[in-house]
Formats: sequence, structure tokens, C-alpha cells
Amino acid sequence: MTLKELSHEVAAGFKEKYGRTPRWLVAAPGRVNVIGEHTDYNDGFVLPMAIEFYAVMAGDFSRSSGSISLYDAQADETAQIDVSKPVAKGEPKWSNYVRGVIAGFQGRGVKIPAFDLYLRSTVPLGGGLSSSAALEVSTATLLEAATGDQLDPVDKALLCQQAEHQFAGVPCGIMDQFISVMGRKNKLLLLDCRSRKTKLVPMNDPSVGILIINSNVRHELGTGEYAKRRAECEAAAKILGVSSLRDASAETLEAAKGKMDDTVFRRARHVIGEIERTLHAAEGFGESNWPTVGQLMYASHASLRDDYQVSCRELDVIVEIAETIGAKGGVFGCRMTGGGFGGCCVALVTNSRIAEISKFIAEEYKKKTGVAASLFTSRPAAGAAILKTRDNPPKSLGFRLGLGVQTPKHVPTCRAV
Ligand code: GLA
Repeated sequence: MTLKELSHEVAAGFKEKYGRTPRWLVAAPGRVNVIGEHTDYNDGFVLPMAIEFYAVMAGDFSRSSGSISLYDAQADETAQIDVSKPVAKGEPKWSNYVRGVIAGFQGRGVKIPAFDLYLRSTVPLGGGLSSSAALEVSTATLLEAATGDQLDPVDKALLCQQAEHQFAGVPCGIMDQFISVMGRKNKLLLLDCRSRKTKLVPMNDPSVGILIINSNVRHELGTGEYAKRRAECEAAAKILGVSSLRDASAETLEAAKGKMDDTVFRRARHVIGEIERTLHAAEGFGESNWPTVGQLMYASHASLRDDYQVSCRELDVIVEIAETIGAKGGVFGCRMTGGGFGGCCVALVTNSRIAEISKFIAEEYKKKTGVAASLFTSRPAAGAAILKTRDNPPKSLGFRLGLGVQTPKHVPTCRAV
């Protein structure tokens, strides 16, 4: 479904539910991380791209109630959020991503009026494609449109990250919210998670593309293990006498091997190696050096599997199948993406062979695991945007409406294969 189709559907859904056309329509994308896994909370580098799956929200001021009514089309459920006082955690669970962002705006001294909201997201839930960041960033974008309080993009991403920490209890890094805010069409984003500086890396070669393979499994240990990995990285940095693993090198780690237990050593070895791989891969993208990028992706997967231990059998099976196809068959590289323990793999492939590659991976994966995978492609997409506003542009949004709004015309389709 294109963004244009999705936004029409959401606008129509709003009208049906609330009996009038929406005043604002906003979208924020999910993401796939091409390389740079578990490096963001170590002050390292990441190389994600926004994907053509979105959380789209339509809204208007409420005419009847003093609270926010938020209808989620997917859950077919409405959350009521009382905005007359500081917003707290509540039910249903999914509403906490929205509550957290509203609380963040309130914390900045912004008065939040009562709204009617309609939400639909096409970002697969639990697939490691940042459905939660898309929801947070679309909420923040709607609040920007509605209140006229335009946030600096970095502050916006950080506010959404805080919502995830405080309202969802996930101590995530900054990658997901940054790319959902700052994604650009046909560009990857090289993000320095220490300085928060970004560099756009063009992906213009029409002969290669990104294939996303959803394993359709999610193993429950995810959140606890994520926090554990963070703690192990911090322990390694402490032993090495650096503020984060960004400041360590393979040599300093090797020299300190005797001072830490083997698990902590391996976690640090992953992070230090992954930061280097990410920088090399960004160069490789710049030079369209696909064999090199592909090898870095395989090396990233091996390190996540063996040293960081966040992969799982299903993800390993996908990567093994990709390796058997090889560059001759059109697959340059493949790796698990996101936090791990299920979710998706990302592969760099020859565009002209996507159909046969996808068919082969789907069949082999089913044979080996008994699970049906979902496969799709996406070009790097644009970040969050206000698609429509009925207001005269609020003053602080004036410049944005001139520069930043993407009309959803000619938005390429996220293709299922
Ligand atoms: C999750 C987190 C990100 C990042 C990745 C691993 O997606 O939300 O901040 O740490 O895991 O790279």
C-alpha cells in the first residue's frame, strides 16, 4: 500500500468514525537498520534507512470531550487519555507510546488540548522494524501540527526515545527515533550516536535493493536481554577505563582480556568491530562496492550470533540460505537487523533477481523451520511529515510547510514479494 493510499484510508476512517474530515494528517515511517547493531547505546555509528511502512494519524480538536480519544484501526480499540493533568501510563498497553510523547510535550510546558485521533500503522508489529518509534514520532508530528510547537529534529527524536524509556520500559538507544524523524528518500543515514551528527549516504544504484525478510518469530526474552547487553557493555567500558566502547579499540580490548570475564569480552569485541564495519559499509555504499558491503553484513551477523548472542535459529537459517544463494545468485550480503531474538533479516540483493531470490528463501525457510516468512522490498523512504493541515499554518510551522512537507504524490509502493 502506498503512503497516498494509506493516508486516504486513514482520512476516510477518521470521517466515518468522527463524522467530519480530519484537520491534520501526519505520517512517520518504520526503519530497517542496514548495519551498526547494538552500537547506538555505545556512542557508536549506525546506518539505518526509513522504510515505506508508516504509522499514519489523522486528528481534529474534540467537539465533545475533555480528553483525547485515540482509535487504533488495527486493534479496533479506543484509548481515552485525560490531558487535563500530566499524562500517566495506562491501558491499553499500545497507547503508552502515545501517552509518553504527550507527557513529553507537557513536560516542555505545552498545553495539550482534547483531540479526536484515528491511527493506522502498516509497520509490522514485533518485526524489529520500529513500529513503536513510528507511533511515537507520528504522535509528536501530530502534536507539532496541532500546537504549533515545532521541535528541533534532534529534540523531537530524543523526546520520543524518552517516551519509550519511561512509558514502555525499554532502555533503547537513539537510532529508531532518529531515522523515523530524519529519513530521506533514497538515502541511508549514517548517524554518529555520540555527537548526533548525521550524514546522508545515497543509495542511487538502480541495480541493487534492500530485501527484508521477516522471520515471523519473536522470542520473548528480548527486553530483559537487551538491558543485560547494555549493562555488559558498560561493565566492559568501565574495566577499559573509557566512558563508552566508542573510545576502545580492538588492541586495548585484547590487552585487557585477562581483566574481564569471557562474556563481557565478547560483547565488547562485537561492539568495537561493529562500529568499524559500519563506517566501512558507509564508504562501500558511497562507492557502490556491493561485494564489500555484503561481506560486512555477513560479518556483522556472525558477530551478533557468536559474540553478542542476540540472534536465534530462525534468523541464522535465513542468513545461511542467503549465503548459499551467494553473490552469483544475486545476494551480496544478509544479516539479522534490530534488537534480535526474532524479527527481520536485511539483505542486499540484485534488483533484477528479487523475485527468484525471495521465492527460494521463502521455500527453504519454510522447509527448515516450519514457519512462513514474509518478504518485501523498500527503497529508503522520507522521514516523518505533516501530510495535510486545514489550519492556516501556525506561525512556527510556516517555514516547515514551505520546506518540509512531503505531499504523498508519487510515493513508491512498499512491495511485497
Ligand atoms: C533496538 C533499539 C535500538 C538499537 C537496536 C539494536 O531496535 O530500539 O535503539 O539499540 O535495538 O541495534
